Amino acid sequence: MNQFNYVIVGSGSAGLTFALKAAEQGSVAIVTKRSRSDSNTAWAQGGIACVTSDEDSMELHVRDTLVAGDGLCNEEVVRTILKEGPACIAELVSCGMDFDKRTNENGKNELDLGKEGGHSKRRILHARDRTGFEIEQTLIAAVLRHPNITLLENHMAVDLITTEKLGEKNGPIRCVGLYVFDEKKECVETIRTDVTVLATGGCGKVYLYTTNPDIATGDGIAIAWRAGAAIANMEFMQFHPTCLYHPKAKSFLISEAVRGEGGLLINSAGERFMEHYDSRRELAPRDVVARAIDAEMKKRGDECVYLDIRSKSPIFLQQRFPKIYETCLHNGIDITQEPIPVVPAAHYQCGGIKTDLHGTTSIAGLYAIGETAFTGLHGANRLASNSLLEALVMAHRAEAHARGEYHHQDPMALPAWHSGDAQDLDERVVIHHNWDEIRRLMWDYMGIVRTDKRLQRATTRLKNLEMEIRDFYWNFKISADLLELRNLVTTAQLMVQSAMSRKESRGLHYTLDYPEHDPELCRDTIILKT
Ligand code: SIN
Repeated sequence: MNQFNYVIVGSGSAGLTFALKAAEQGSVAIVTKRSRSDSNTAWAQGGIACVTSDEDSMELHVRDTLVAGDGLCNEEVVRTILKEGPACIAELVSCGMDFDKRTNENGKNELDLGKEGGHSKRRILHARDRTGFEIEQTLIAAVLRHPNITLLENHMAVDLITTEKLGEKNGPIRCVGLYVFDEKKECVETIRTDVTVLATGGCGKVYLYTTNPDIATGDGIAIAWRAGAAIANMEFMQFHPTCLYHPKAKSFLISEAVRGEGGLLINSAGERFMEHYDSRRELAPRDVVARAIDAEMKKRGDECVYLDIRSKSPIFLQQRFPKIYETCLHNGIDITQEPIPVVPAAHYQCGGIKTDLHGTTSIAGLYAIGETAFTGLHGANRLASNSLLEALVMAHRAEAHARGEYHHQDPMALPAWHSGDAQDLDERVVIHHNWDEIRRLMWDYMGIVRTDKRLQRATTRLKNLEMEIRDFYWNFKISADLLELRNLVTTAQLMVQSAMSRKESRGLHYTLDYPEHDPELCRDTIILKT
């Protein structure tokens, strides 16, 4: 049995930030299921929203966040996270992160601030259109230098070990360790720890079309759920309005910053259409823009709409959006000469493992941070680029709390994993079939526009799939694919169950059966295992 003071599952910005702080106190293991930089963070293009300019104010950022959140943000959480953002960003900069600068009209060097939908001011700190990648590299370099951190790549968390599972009936449930699958050795290891942190990112892969990397299978949410943690607001999946529509470019995001720099949405007839849907046009919050695109495509029977940024010079586009420029060109689209075909795609889960402002969950010793967590910041719709900020701030806050609460507890022997007489799965193809089925049915029945009937269909199909997957899990040797599939189906079920229970439309949850807000339902959806 391995033992660490802190075990962090996930190697994105939240997990790595926590690890660096915790390593000043004790031994740390980072469990990451692929390579160290495979994370949602590494794919984030836009940047970090933060008030740094004299023309901006904290009140305006708070107001924009609350407006986007459509009545469901927790204002105390919003104010705390936005207020503590600048100090956390300063620490990231001291670690080596370099945000883009520009020379202003007085010849002074200042941060080059981007603009995105729902923001009333320019306030997005960015590194061209590769912000997440640069943050990830900066943090990983620091982690690799740290003697107290053990990086376990190709290791996937299977389940938490809680006092309840160990048979303790009295007192609150406490997490005391976890089972981790070593993909190379094909075996499950037991890890004892004082503090477990779930920082596994999002769950975009429950959908057929997503801007997320392959690792985004809702692992943290499913693992926490199985252990008995409360899960909140899973109906609020954010669809990004502009994912590249191209048969060969999988999941490639066209950053909202392109619209922030003047990109216009046009239909296949070359007409702008956003003004028919919202007075804020291309820079309305994401839920509004994604629904408008969906409606326009359905109305016209088109497979995509187009984003036109030809108003900007080629040199500007190549310097400001090098990744988008190069990726589109590689796929035969010269963005300086032609509009970019785009469609909405699943992008960000606003719900997750319910935490307080210290990242603690309903299980003692278990923390959740980053996209896998639900703090109350995003409400019914996340304001663009608020999530990296949340990841950094909550990593700092959770680490400060864990330091005081759980450090250096007595060692406790934990049972080894038993694989019993599990067989090799003879037909691996069934895993891929089930995976495809979940992603397709979620896209068709739990997409941008919902109805009770569609959600009911999704419920029935997911139930059947869950039973089949449970059978594979108990009877066959586990693999990373099977573990991901198991997490994917659980996450999808939590999403549909939450959507079924919200009999109104709010933020990202839009249903034709209840198209208006219901003030009585202006509250979070909390799901607890019965
Ligand atoms: C984008 O660049 O459009 C994504 C930013 C975000 O999701 O916050």
